[in-house]
Amino acid sequence: MNSEFTHILIVDDEVSICNILGQYLKKRGYSVFTVQCAEQALEVLEDKSVDLVITDIKMPGITGVDLLKIIKKNNSTIPVLITTGFPTLDTAIEALKLGAYDYLTKPFHLEEIGEKVRRAIISKQLEEENLLFSKLVSLHEVTKVLTSTLDIAELDKKFLNYSIKMSKADGGALLINDSSGRLSISETCGKVEKKLWVNQALTNAARWVLSREEPIVIESGVNVLPSGLLPIPPEFKSFISFPLKTPSRIVGVLSLVRFANRQPFTNLDLEIINVLASQASISIENVRLYQNIRDNYLKTIRAFALAVEAKDEYTHGHSENVMKYTVVLARHLGLPDQEIELVKYAGLLHDIGKIGISEQILNKAGKLTDREFEEIKKHPELGARIIADVPFLKSLVPMVLHHHEFYCGGGYPTGISGTEIPFGARILSVSDAFEAMTSDRPYRKSLSQEVAFSILKKEKGKQFDPNIIDAFLDIVHSTGE
Ligand SMILES: [Fe+2]
Repeated sequence: MNSEFTHILIVDDEVSICNILGQYLKKRGYSVFTVQCAEQALEVLEDKSVDLVITDIKMPGITGVDLLKIIKKNNSTIPVLITTGFPTLDTAIEALKLGAYDYLTKPFHLEEIGEKVRRAIISKQLEEENLLFSKLVSLHEVTKVLTSTLDIAELDKKFLNYSIKMSKADGGALLINDSSGRLSISETCGKVEKKLWVNQALTNAARWVLSREEPIVIESGVNVLPSGLLPIPPEFKSFISFPLKTPSRIVGVLSLVRFANRQPFTNLDLEIINVLASQASISIENVRLYQNIRDNYLKTIRAFALAVEAKDEYTHGHSENVMKYTVVLARHLGLPDQEIELVKYAGLLHDIGKIGISEQILNKAGKLTDREFEEIKKHPELGARIIADVPFLKSLVPMVLHHHEFYCGGGYPTGISGTEIPFGARILSVSDAFEAMTSDRPYRKSLSQEVAFSILKKEKGKQFDPNIIDAFLDIVHSTGE
C-alpha cells in the first residue's frame, strides 16, 4: 500500500499529542485525521476509509478500550494501536486480548511509533489478502453449486443468498434483463422491505448499470452523482449494483445494500462480488437457455401426443393424465429430477405409435377381433421406431417400447419380465392402466376408482411391479382419494 493512500486516525483528548503524532506521520507520507474523542472517531470511521487507528485509552466518554471493542465487533480488519500514559502490564494485556495490534507508552519515541505503524499496516494488508484468499476458496465452492443448478428459481435464490452472505449486505435484489431489454426483479432477499427495491433511486441505478454495462457504488449523503442517478433512500448507508455480463449480453443486474447504521461496503467486498457476479452470469444465462429448450421440447412432445389423440376420440386427455400420474409416482419412488423429466415425457408420448393404427380399430365400439388386437399391439414398436431417430426423444425409446410388458412376463411386444423391463416403463404401465380403467372406452364405460384400485391390487406382482403398486396405493392413502 502506498503510504500517501494510507489513512491513519489519531484519537486523543490531548490536542498536543494529536498534533505531534499527526505531524510526524504526515511527514512520513501518511494521510492523517485527528479527533479528540471516541465519539468523533466513530463518525470518521463511518464516513472515511481508515487503514489504522491510534487511540488513547483514557478519554472522557467512550474509552479507547471501548472504541477498540466497537471496531472489532464490526469485524473490521483495521488495526488499532493503543496509547497509554499509564503503562501497566494489565492494561496492555487487556488491549491485546481484545484485538489491539500493539500498544505505545507515553512519552512517545517517534521512531518506535513509525516502526509500529509500518508493521501494523503491513499486517492489515496481509490480513486482507488472507481474507480475500479464504473468500476466493469459498467462492470456488459457490461457483460449483451454481453451475450444478438447473432450476431458475433455485439458482436465482442461491446466487442472491451467496452474494448477500459474502458481502455482508443487509439485503439484495436480482433483476433479470429479458429478451426485450426489460429489467424486472426476479428475486429479493435479506432484511430490506420489498417495496424499497422499487424505489426510483434504486431502479434508476439498476437501469444505469444495465445501459452503461459497468458497476456503480452510491454512498448515503452523496449528492453529486452521475447524470440520471438519484441519492439513495435514507434507510441505506451504501448501495452497490453490478451488471451480470456474459460474452454476448447483460443478463441482469445484482444490487446490494447496507443499512444506515452499518459501515459502507469495502473494496474487498466489491472485488468478491465482482468475481461472484461474473461467474454466476454464465449460469444464470445457461439455466434460462436450458429452460427455453426444455419448454420447446415439451411443446413438441405435446403436439405429437395431440396428433395421436386427434385420431382416437376416446383418448382425449389420456396422455396428459398418464403424464401427471407418472410424475407423481416417479417422485414418490424417489427418482432423481432428470429421470422424472424423462418419464414425464414418456408419459405424454407412450402411445405415439397409435398414429400408425387404423382409426376404425382405434374407435371400434365392439369387441376387437384377434387380428385387430394384433394390430393394436403393434403400437409400442411403431412408437419406438418413430422417436428413435429424433435425437432429443431417443432416450424415451425403452419406456415407449415396453409400456405394455407384464411384470410376470407375457406382455407385449417382447414378453420380458421383472427388472428386465425398464423401470420407467413399469411406472408407465401402472399409470396408463389406471388412467385407461377410469375413463370411458368405445367398448365400455369408465370404472370407478375403487374398482380400478382393486384391479391394480389383484395384479400386483402379476401384471404390475409390486413396489410400484405399493407406491401408488401409498399416494392414494396419503392424499385421501
Ligand atoms: Fe399403449
